[in-house]
Amino acid sequence: MARQYNPSNVAVIGMEWGDEGKGKIVDFLAEKADIIARFNGGNNAGHTIEANNKKIVVHLVPSGVMHRNKFNVVGNGLVIDPKILLHEIKNLEKNGIKISPQNLAISENAHVILPHHIAEDRQAGGKIGTTGRGIGPAYTDKAARIGLRMQDFVDDSIFKKRFGEEEFYQEYKGYAEELKPYINDTTAIINDAIGNNKKVIFEGAQGTLLDIDHGTYPFVTSSSATSGGVCTGLGISPRKVQSVMGVCKAYKTRVGNGPFPTEITGAVGQKIQKIGREFGATTGRERRVGWFDALIGKYAVMVNGIDSIALTKLDVFTTVDKLKICVAYKYKGNVLKDFTTSIKILQNCQPVYEELDGWWDDITKVRSYDKLPNNAKKYLRRIEELLKVPISIISVGPKREQTIVARNEFLV
Ligand code: GDP
Ligand code: IMO
Ligand code: MG
Repeated sequence: MARQYNPSNVAVIGMEWGDEGKGKIVDFLAEKADIIARFNGGNNAGHTIEANNKKIVVHLVPSGVMHRNKFNVVGNGLVIDPKILLHEIKNLEKNGIKISPQNLAISENAHVILPHHIAEDRQAGGKIGTTGRGIGPAYTDKAARIGLRMQDFVDDSIFKKRFGEEEFYQEYKGYAEELKPYINDTTAIINDAIGNNKKVIFEGAQGTLLDIDHGTYPFVTSSSATSGGVCTGLGISPRKVQSVMGVCKAYKTRVGNGPFPTEITGAVGQKIQKIGREFGATTGRERRVGWFDALIGKYAVMVNGIDSIALTKLDVFTTVDKLKICVAYKYKGNVLKDFTTSIKILQNCQPVYEELDGWWDDITKVRSYDKLPNNAKKYLRRIEELLKVPISIISVGPKREQTIVARNEFLV
């Protein structure tokens, strides 16, 4: 399909293992959008937004909430912990952000996370290093066709019949009543909006390598975090997704277990972790850090059909003397140029690096591509060359305004 410039809708997708800065980018793009819609995951996600002199972390509510007069949709592809969602809504209100059915709709077909899902995850999720939020068990029930949909949760005749004997029933019945006004046919809402040329941002949670099908299985989450998930997680045609923006960090991070070929240990790794404040927005866990991996980048471009990249955290590299980009893996005497989901290879390969010079100037106040240091531009250009995709946005700090638009034509 021909590339559509200045699209009416854009999917924002994590290119790695999550925490790429999707929340910041979605908030930035949301200024020009009408609707912001989440399509996968649950409160395993933690999306940070810094704008209007506030810093908030959203887990279930889409990252459009800092803008007034935008409509936010939580799609059918999510699993929702009702207690956490209500808590989040109240917290946002404490921050002066008003949430009501006027600006938030929750799919009637999203599934509900119940206390036994959380208990099961806490017990069994250790090997993967899950967030312990009940995500896997809730999706397991969905796939086994024994899950509880939102529409059945808020219909007490159904909820009571299934869970009336459970200890949590009374407490959760209260949550159901509070959430009822938000439950809606979000498939119709999104399709009507697209039909009426409204601008929509599809907000991904997690990232390509955490995708249940395309990630580093079994060290993945249980949902479709790639662009394919937009269609199933919201009920829209693939022909309606006009553009895909991949979000990636200038370096890589990973929380939880699983292979990480370019992981940096030692002093440089600790420096990047410290400057980049690499601690999870959901669990507070340390994020492992690694060099940019072009194999992962190319893979994410292919799987998602990425049109342009939003590259975040470039500022964190300031004062790092030498920057490395992984361009191949060596495995048992062979040189691999393409990513693989084989855990055996990923755990035992040696990355082949190109080395680039770093820069020393503070770039957090730079607002145009031209003003970036030459070595920063060289780094960005090399990534564009390797991934064969343009970088449309460069993020140089956590705040909304710390953003450089390099290619306006990929934004809504
Ligand atoms: P998400 O899950 O993809 O939305 O990302 P998170 O919010 O979990 O993690 C990204 C972290 O990096 C957050 O603390 C953001 O505030 C922060 N951040 C985003 N972009 C930048 C950037 O360009 N520079 C710096 N220094 N921090 C950033
Ligand atoms: P956002 O949207 C980073 C990771 C967990 C674990 C694995 C499975 O903020 O980018 P789960 O609880 O989903 O069953 O855990 O996936 N994980 C994330 N890592 N960012 C996220 O979301 C994540 N959501 C899940 O650490 O390794
Ligand atoms: Mg996060």
